[in-house]
Amino acid sequence: MSHSFLLRATDIRKSYGAVEALRGVDFHLSRGETVALVGDNGAGKSTLVKILSGATRPTSGSIEFDGKNVALDNTDIARDLGIETVYQDLGLCSNLTVAENIYLGRELVRKIGPLTMLAKREMHRRAAHVLKDLSINVPRTTANVAGLSGGQRQAVALARARLWERSMILLDEPTAALGVQETRRAMDSVRQIRGEGTAVVLITHSMPMVMEMSDRVVVMRRGEKVGDVATAKLKSADAIVSLITGATERWIEVPTPFEADARVTEGTTA
Ligand SMILES: Nc1ncnc2c1ncn2[C@@H]1O[C@H](COP(=O)(O)OP(=O)(O)O)[C@@H](O)[C@H]1O
Ligand SMILES: [Mg+2]
Repeated sequence: MSHSFLLRATDIRKSYGAVEALRGVDFHLSRGETVALVGDNGAGKSTLVKILSGATRPTSGSIEFDGKNVALDNTDIARDLGIETVYQDLGLCSNLTVAENIYLGRELVRKIGPLTMLAKREMHRRAAHVLKDLSINVPRTTANVAGLSGGQRQAVALARARLWERSMILLDEPTAALGVQETRRAMDSVRQIRGEGTAVVLITHSMPMVMEMSDRVVVMRRGEKVGDVATAKLKSADAIVSLITGATERWIEVPTPFEADARVTEGTTA
């Protein structure tokens, strides 16, 4: 049942002048599935994520979301479909508070007669709630983001993505700038989001993270998809590294809809 994919991108190409960042990539994602997107620097991972988040337009190719053709011409269109993105640099505004960042562009308002006012207290209340749910230690929702640690900023970005009950979250190296402890916390948040049935695309260079967090691994090399394998089928991360370096030419399985209920949670790396 190919129509049961949440997202299906076909033959995606992207050129920047003479640089072919993506050279005909097929990518699919099921509801609730977590895909690790890996590859060397310059392989085209961020370009693919930017296309799926509406931040960049492909040179050619088609994208189906929920069985319908979509033109992800900007990030608002993607967001309206339930696609949320957390970038390495997080895209937060440092001069705004935690709550303001979480609600940026989607502020809650209340109407009093002819006046429209920001429902500030309600935004702070809900922001605090979602942060608490994610077991995140952010001092106050009224604190400016500028004063937060990398891990806390990451938490705010994840809370922002979470508040809107996304169907799909794209994470481009979410822990690249974090310390060990902060990475662990951020990964706990991702695990929670994943457990709620949100589909996740996770770009990371950490093989332990790939093996632990993903249902499937997609490997990019020089603008092409060279690997697409269920994580449970991998005996170890070595197989992924071989695909990344080119020691293994290709390993692409036929796309099959993923079922989160059947997720293998333990013993996949044995
Ligand atoms: N805005 C851009 N302008 C020109 N070239 C770009 C741009 N963005 C990415 N590229 C090029 O596209 C290729 C893929 O980059 P990218 O998707 O960022 O790779 P990755 O995220 O896997 O490191 C690289 O050669 C990179 O230099
Ligand atoms: Mg990148």
